[in-house]
This record gives sequence, structure tokens and C-alpha cells, in this order.
Amino acid sequence: MPQLDAVRASMLGCVRCRALVRCRSRVVPGSGDAPARVMFVGIAPGRFGGDRTGVPFSGDRSGAMLRRMIERSGLSRVFITNLVRCSPRDARGRNRDPSSIEIANCRSHVDAEIALVRPRIIACLGRLAWRELAGRDAPFKPERPAPLMRDGAIIYPMYHPGYVIRGALSERSYARQFRRLAHIVAGAKDASIRADTPD
Ligand code: URA
Repeated sequence: MPQLDAVRASMLGCVRCRALVRCRSRVVPGSGDAPARVMFVGIAPGRFGGDRTGVPFSGDRSGAMLRRMIERSGLSRVFITNLVRCSPRDARGRNRDPSSIEIANCRSHVDAEIALVRPRIIACLGRLAWRELAGRDAPFKPERPAPLMRDGAIIYPMYHPGYVIRGALSERSYARQFRRLAHIVAGAKDASIRADTPD
């Protein structure tokens, strides 16, 4: 899609966050189908994954887990992106969470992708993505999801694949969450989806 290519090109030269410009190997735009039924939003490219490959959730264990779950649940037409497009590092070069300023600086990139990809569901992978897209007051409960409706898209909470890799959740339970997501995408009625009050 030419508009998405233009958005990608505009991100590649982004210098909004001085710390991230210093520690990133590259800027990692979202990737996948456009338009898409589901957009997955993670945190930021990992140092062993997107920061090396240039593609979100690829080349590392989190990426392999996410892509395996997508395939097993039969989801198609997906777009995968992150809240922040550069790999944040701590003083020792390890992955760290992006700061709230870094997330705010990157917000227009996510919004531009959402506007062009027009997903039916935005699956937030982890609390950070959920808080940013659903709002601070919405409880993060992927085991009993209470999705929200925002600007015509369902905002849906899910655990980050790193949570499963760390052993905090079984792969079986995670696969069940993906089946539930696939069910909603297929148009099944979900009584727990409520329209949120406008911002
Ligand atoms: N890789 C990504 O692209 N995003 C994450 O949040 C984690 C790993």
C-alpha cells in the first residue's frame, strides 16, 4: 500500500528520542497485511529480534511464539507492530521498557498505521500496549478480557509472548487465548465488548 510505504519511510529517519537514536541499530516499522483484520501491538523491537532483522517480532523467541500462535489459531490478514519502533537499552545494553516519553513520541507512528491498516481488532500484547491504547483506567485482564471499542476497532488485551517464554503462562493457555481472539475476529458475538466513553 503506497500510503503505508510513505509512513514507513517517514519513520525510518525519526530522531525524536535521543537515547533511542543512540542505542538502536535501525528503526523497525510495523509489517504485515494492509488492510488487516487484526493488528498486534507489542512493546518495542528486541535486541536479538527486530533490532537485527528490521521486522517486528522476528528472529527471537517472542517472535517465534507469537507467529506460532497466529498460525495455530488460523488467523489471517494480520499486521504486527510495536508501541515504540526502536530497541530501548539500559546502561548495560540489555532490553528495557520504553519510557512514557518515548511511548508518547512514537504514538503518531502507531496512529498512522492504525488509520491505514484499519484493523477490526487491535490486540495489545502486554500491559504497556493495553494502557497506551485502552487508557490507564481499563483493567488489564487477558484471562477474562473486557475489550473496548475505540474509533471502530475492538481494543483487546492479551499477554505478551515473553510472558509465556518466562514460564508465567502455559503455551496451552496462551493458545486458548488466541483461539478466543480468532473466534471474535470471525464475527462471533461477545457480550463483554462495550462501547467506551469518548476520550
Ligand atoms: N519483539 C518485538 O518486536 N516487540 C516486542 O514487544 C518484543 C519482541
